[in-house]
Amino acid sequence: MELHDKTFIVTGGGSGLGAAVAREFVAAGAAVVLADVDVEGGTALASELGARACFSRCDVCNSDDVAAAIDHAHAEYGSLHGAVNCAGVATIMKTVGRDTVHDLAVFDQVLQINVVGTFNVIRLVAAAMQANPIEKSAERGIFINTASIAAFDGQMGQAAYAASKGAVVAMTLPIARDLAREGIRVVTIAPGPFKTPMMAQLPQEVQDSVGSQVPFPSRLGNPDEFARLARHIVENQMINGECIRIDGAIRMGPK
Ligand SMILES: NC(=O)c1ccc[n+]([C@@H]2O[C@H](COP(=O)([O-])OP(=O)(O)OC[C@H]3O[C@@H](n4cnc5c(N)ncnc54)[C@H](O)[C@@H]3O)[C@@H](O)[C@H]2O)c1
Repeated sequence: MELHDKTFIVTGGGSGLGAAVAREFVAAGAAVVLADVDVEGGTALASELGARACFSRCDVCNSDDVAAAIDHAHAEYGSLHGAVNCAGVATIMKTVGRDTVHDLAVFDQVLQINVVGTFNVIRLVAAAMQANPIEKSAERGIFINTASIAAFDGQMGQAAYAASKGAVVAMTLPIARDLAREGIRVVTIAPGPFKTPMMAQLPQEVQDSVGSQVPFPSRLGNPDEFARLARHIVENQMINGECIRIDGAIRMGPK
């Protein structure tokens, strides 16, 4: 599918990887609805990107919010060809500590946003895209999800995060199979450490240390490198039902 003149919802589009995808897609001639709970970041980027971007305040776990983002796409641009799911949260909490036990509400919240939220967007956007005319490429649309290498190499303190990203990887193939008849592809990207506000929560020396552990190139990923992979996935029809790591060959150790 070509990006030119297509419309995408980008969840988490107000920051980090989602913002980079929005920039890349708009530069390629697409329109984007930035669907994020971060009103400040989302509206600022929408006004920076101009007429082919708008902001829709959206908690991915809330079906009314997702429906409103879909309505925004149709009202502003008259079409919707997919969603790039970048909304997500990361927590670090050990299963048990010397005097602590993992808060179950925290575990549940991470699963809700990263897994249920991702699926909520897919199910509602897919339903809306069923009415799309079939493109020359025989496609109706595409979903790109964001997992993490924590799905495979979860570290200490990442039980909730790794479980959530493992679920995103695991649901990629069955959803791709569900939507194949509709001409809709589903692909997941599993990034290694990337230089975004989520990573910036960690102390600088930790960021430097993580970057230096990447075999090559020995640094954190730049969000535009993630965005260029997302663009390629849209444009390359044979990629479907798969999870692609983008990680400079890093395999995370226990901590
Ligand atoms: N940065 C990394 O190193 C890295 C590595 C692997 C995976 N990831 C994943 O990439 C995705 C993007 O992360 P990022 O690094 O750009 O982080 P980020 O914090 O910069 O951006 C995440 C965005 O998601 C939004 N968001 C959070 N909860 C939401 C909700 N319920 N509904 C809608 N929006 C919500 C936030 O407001 C924020 O704008 C996440 O799923 C993250 O787990 C990031």
